[in-house]
Amino acid sequence: MSITYKALPGPKGIPFIGNLHQFKLSGLHHFLEQCAIDYGNVFKVKLGPANFTIVAHPEMIQQILKSRPYQFRRMAKMDKILKQEGVHGLFNAEGDDWKVHRRIVNRGLNIKHQKQYFSSILKSVERLHKKMNTAAEDQFAYPVQDDLMRFTVDVTTSLAFGFEMNTLEQKGGVIQEHMEKIFPMIFKRINDPLPWHKIYRTKDDKAYDKAFDEIEKYVEGYIKAGRQRLKDNPELKAQPNDILEALIAASDEEEVITDREIKGNLLTLLLAGEDTTAHSLAWALILICQHPSVLQKLQEEADRVLCIEGFLSSYDRHELLTYTEAVIHEALRLKSVAPLLLLEPLEDIEMEGYSFEKGAKMIVLTRAGALQDDNFTESKRFNPDRWLVGQNSKCPVHHISAVMPFGAGPRMCPGKHLALLEMKLVLSMMAKNFSLELVTPAGDIQENLAFTMMPAKFDIRLSRRTL
Ligand code: HEM
Repeated sequence: MSITYKALPGPKGIPFIGNLHQFKLSGLHHFLEQCAIDYGNVFKVKLGPANFTIVAHPEMIQQILKSRPYQFRRMAKMDKILKQEGVHGLFNAEGDDWKVHRRIVNRGLNIKHQKQYFSSILKSVERLHKKMNTAAEDQFAYPVQDDLMRFTVDVTTSLAFGFEMNTLEQKGGVIQEHMEKIFPMIFKRINDPLPWHKIYRTKDDKAYDKAFDEIEKYVEGYIKAGRQRLKDNPELKAQPNDILEALIAASDEEEVITDREIKGNLLTLLLAGEDTTAHSLAWALILICQHPSVLQKLQEEADRVLCIEGFLSSYDRHELLTYTEAVIHEALRLKSVAPLLLLEPLEDIEMEGYSFEKGAKMIVLTRAGALQDDNFTESKRFNPDRWLVGQNSKCPVHHISAVMPFGAGPRMCPGKHLALLEMKLVLSMMAKNFSLELVTPAGDIQENLAFTMMPAKFDIRLSRRTL
């Protein structure tokens, strides 16, 4: 007999609100990860009127994620909230519809295209380098997160939409001020026990509406420009330069992608590519600053690989940055910006002795396994060396399938290779040119979950290295 929802263990709640009083929304992942330690790898919680089944077992999570799109889907409520804002794109598409979106978006984000877009990313790295030089000259406490966001917006808009936004060289009031308001509100609405915003709109709801309107205007502008490019150069239909052109070409020829879906996918890419990469970079910097020996090794590698240049200038050399890559994997393991995913079974499912009912609300804890000694030697320690070849004797336990910062299975993040390249370029540039110091005490930098898991605001101090 398999274990049903009713028989699952879990923290005791109180009438009406269940377990909601036991955590702050920004700490939901901490609460659930702690419950996994207390109640085991499959347990239940009650968030207001909603019953949730939580799975923290890495092998079960892999199985669940791999059985998409036909046995599990993303949680239906998330789709509803995204669609209310006009987001009909890859992230919230399901079934056969998802397959069509995925094929088209993959065309643009495929690793084979990395070389092609390297020079465009490099332009943004140069601009970031210039800004960081100014911060180093002034020696002020530098709120680096803002520039990391600008960097990732610039990269995404140029690669996905063929538009050079250059927010890094603009002051104030740019697109990411609007974007900052989006994820926290989507996350709040997904977790609200009742759709309060339909009854009463708070100041935050109004700011969110305005932010979405502004971003939609940007996106509509890109689509108009993209259509014009394809009209002027019809040969681009066969050889699109960016994802927008691929989407427009598909909508013209295969008639499978509607205008609404083109817009939805552009919004998706902008949202999915910005916060995730910028926060992952921010976490990597925080960890590096706390470990001077890691910074030193990064600097030695950057000196060797980048030679006399201030940043990596040729794509083919990025593979030589093996230590930088190890630092990135280790930062993503400890500080996964997506520590949980919200799902629903599309049919009644029996798995590993548990039965999950069709339509049940489920959360899979994709970080929990990465923080267990069963899966990684000294799992809580920041030790990039564990990712280097030949470290088996020092770090014998290394279960790579327990790390899922990019998800797993057919819906695994299609931007993974782009994100890793962006992170490598930024970290090697910083290591080559600057010494880094954390100004904000590390203990004050909390993990805040607001759809993505970001660090609380922090400052670093940069000083130019004397080489
Ligand atoms: C370090 C940076 C990033 C992290 C940690 C990250 C993480 C994730 C995760 C966990 C998922 C869900 C995967 C699943 O359900 O199994 C996802 C999906 C997705 N990501 Fe990323 N991501 C990053 C960067 C990017 C970038 C740069 C882009 C594009 C510009 C992007 C586009 C997407 C899209 C479109 C999806 C939906 C895929 C689908 O449902 O088929 N991501 N990402």
